[in-house]
Amino acid sequence: MGKSSGEFERASAAAKFIQKQTKLRPKIALVLGSGLGAFADEFAGAKKIPYAKIPHFPQSTAIGHAGQLVIGKVDSVEVAGMQGRVHLYEGYTPQQVVFPIRVFARMGVKAVILTNAAGGINLNYSAGALVAIRDHINLQGVNPLIGPNDGRFGVRFPDMTQAYDPEFRRFVAEAGKKLKQNLHEGVYLALSGPNYETPAEIHAFRTFGADLVGMSTVPEVLAARHAGVRVLGISCVTNMAAGVTGERLTAEEVFETGARVKNDFIALLKVVIPRIAEAIA
Ligand code: HPA
Repeated sequence: MGKSSGEFERASAAAKFIQKQTKLRPKIALVLGSGLGAFADEFAGAKKIPYAKIPHFPQSTAIGHAGQLVIGKVDSVEVAGMQGRVHLYEGYTPQQVVFPIRVFARMGVKAVILTNAAGGINLNYSAGALVAIRDHINLQGVNPLIGPNDGRFGVRFPDMTQAYDPEFRRFVAEAGKKLKQNLHEGVYLALSGPNYETPAEIHAFRTFGADLVGMSTVPEVLAARHAGVRVLGISCVTNMAAGVTGERLTAEEVFETGARVKNDFIALLKVVIPRIAEAIA
């Protein structure tokens, strides 16, 4: 038996709870990955809601994740920002991982900006690069849409031909030019983790056409597109993937690089958010 029965009611209850905490009605939500949560500290007039207080919301245990929802304004745009997400490798079910996305959909959110730290497979990348996700390859071995389909969220067989919104990607490219940032576009390959990959895996994934590898984001994209929510995905290449440089991979390196490019990342988001707001208005 899948967990989907009752999921719509649970997401609706969480959405209602959140809407009671603030008058703001964001149409854009951000999931801020490792080290990027600081952006939400800049939201104006913010209401912070710990995940622990929200009915049915999963708690994040990963380091670098604060575990609260921040609702406030970026310039004049109302946004909801998740400081930290939950991952499959923490032991959460795929349904738990995407619960916040379904809550956003129930809150009337029309666009999600999903950010993450990723390993660079494409040899043109280097640590610190920002990459707009063009498409993905799901090798997580699970899928949040498995189980009975609740038609109130979306259709049984959702289309994924343009999962990563082309118009939003154009906004990123234009923002990158404006800010003179060296932005890329690439294909994100998702695994469950928690181990980093082997060099042989990375070699194989390069032949698949993957540019980036990571342990998140794809379940959220699937749930968002299922619910008709538009998606922007941005990866920060925190390290070149296993075997590329011959160096060992450490979580410390991932956090250090994340911290180093945080300001570029935030500058980019500040330019892109008003454009997305206009596009979904
Ligand atoms: N592999 C998987 N996930 C990651 C990596 C990596 O090299 N870097 C940051 N997240």
